[in-house]
Amino acid sequence: MSKQFDVIVIGGGPGGYIAAIRAAQLGKNVACVDEWKNANGGPAPGGTCTNVGCIPSKALLQSSEHYEQASHHFADHGITVKGLSMDVAKMVARKDTVVKQNNDGILYLFKKNKVSFFHGRASFVKATDGGYEIKVAGAAEESIVGQQIIIATGSNARALPGAPFDEQLILSNDGALRIETAPKKLGLIGSGVIGLEMGSVWRRLGTDVTILEGLPDFLGAVDQQIAKEAKKAFDKQGLKIELGVTVGEIKTSKKGVNIAYTSAKGEAKTLDVDKLIISIGRVPNTIGLNVEAVGLKLDERGAIVVDGDCKTNLPGVWAVGDVVRGPMLAHKAEEEGVAVAERIVGQHGHVNFNTIPWVIYTSPEIAWVGRTEQQLKADGVAYKAGTFPFLANGRARALGDTTGMVKMLADAKTDEILGVHIVGPMASELIAECVVAMEFRASAEDIARICHAHPSLSESTKEAALAVDKRTLNF
Ligand code: NAI
Repeated sequence: MSKQFDVIVIGGGPGGYIAAIRAAQLGKNVACVDEWKNANGGPAPGGTCTNVGCIPSKALLQSSEHYEQASHHFADHGITVKGLSMDVAKMVARKDTVVKQNNDGILYLFKKNKVSFFHGRASFVKATDGGYEIKVAGAAEESIVGQQIIIATGSNARALPGAPFDEQLILSNDGALRIETAPKKLGLIGSGVIGLEMGSVWRRLGTDVTILEGLPDFLGAVDQQIAKEAKKAFDKQGLKIELGVTVGEIKTSKKGVNIAYTSAKGEAKTLDVDKLIISIGRVPNTIGLNVEAVGLKLDERGAIVVDGDCKTNLPGVWAVGDVVRGPMLAHKAEEEGVAVAERIVGQHGHVNFNTIPWVIYTSPEIAWVGRTEQQLKADGVAYKAGTFPFLANGRARALGDTTGMVKMLADAKTDEILGVHIVGPMASELIAECVVAMEFRASAEDIARICHAHPSLSESTKEAALAVDKRTLNF
């Protein structure tokens, strides 16, 4: 007889493993199935985020930033480094260790919370009396039954037609994190989050990096004042970004990759690089789930159709994270996973899509929450804007990193904060205060009247709030 569970979670990424832990905390008998394998064939739960996304990219960004600092900025502090060199293989090995620590951490959390872990690929077999039978194909094949199913199978990199990923010359996010020596020339298609983060890693290590972007505006979804400020910084660093291009034929040879493209001005151009990373977005992953067996509905993009509560068209089947609508962000998936687990036990789990923060971990970092100035204009909302440059912040000067600004947008009548946009040092951390403020529906004046530690970068957030009322103190 198949093992029976209250809840089976398919996928052990941030959406899945967090949903499994929360359901177990709420007293459910939970299984989580994940097929990701480490280099030795063992389990590597954590999904794209842990294995080939958020975590390893941050490890490489940190290592390359240290190198950049030592090469170009230590001298400003009176530190001379002689014989500086970079061991890329060691940097990559360190990244692998960080990933393994996270994989092991999740396995430990499963044990601690009594979640049964199955290593293998899950697929639907059939609906049973009051649940679903799921086949797990791993080292052995077994069948388990769950009353409730949470699908959290994530997403895969989108390929360009005619340029399939070989992970040697044409790389997805996966291959991009396994480059063993700094290429002389690196090309990237798509100047979105992955393009900018990966482009930054290799540019810092001395690679000549060119990013080809289809859209005419740089970071079109980001507040354009912030995007322009970021672009200035990237240009200064020597990251080459060509906007408004149309990519044509991509050819690989022993020498590398040749990309034909048309520039924004309509000129026919080519780019020759040693390796090419394609970072043009991701597609929902339902490969091998056998959704047909139970009649689970997908949309035209291949995403699982869900309502606002992550319910699918099937009773007792839920889906969260990259495999459903909404931003493909680990923290969005986690929030949905927690909310679904709570709904399963009759609680009222809730995700506020208006206060999901975004971060791009470049240098300077870019982070935002809420609506941009261009969105407020399009929505016809009357707003006030306040900005404060890090140039006028004492801590930023002491750090030696004064690029960028904090920009706050508030409702013209009520002063409620509608969006905060940051480009500059530690923007990823600074945004948290703004998320809290928006979640509590704070006004700009609320932030302006809160005591912020001095000297700290967070004073710039307070000053941007003061700027909304045109009364900055330090600028
Ligand atoms: P993205 O959606 O951020 O950027 C894709 C870029 O490629 C866009 O600028 C788009 O205009 C461009 N593009 C699309 N088709 C093109 C074409 N044919 N030619 C030229 N340009 C083209 O997607 P990305 O960077 O691949 O990242 C995938 C997902 O992973 C995103 O949803 C992102 O949120 C997530 N992610 C999040 C991170 C973070 O939170 N820091 C880090 C890395 C990824």
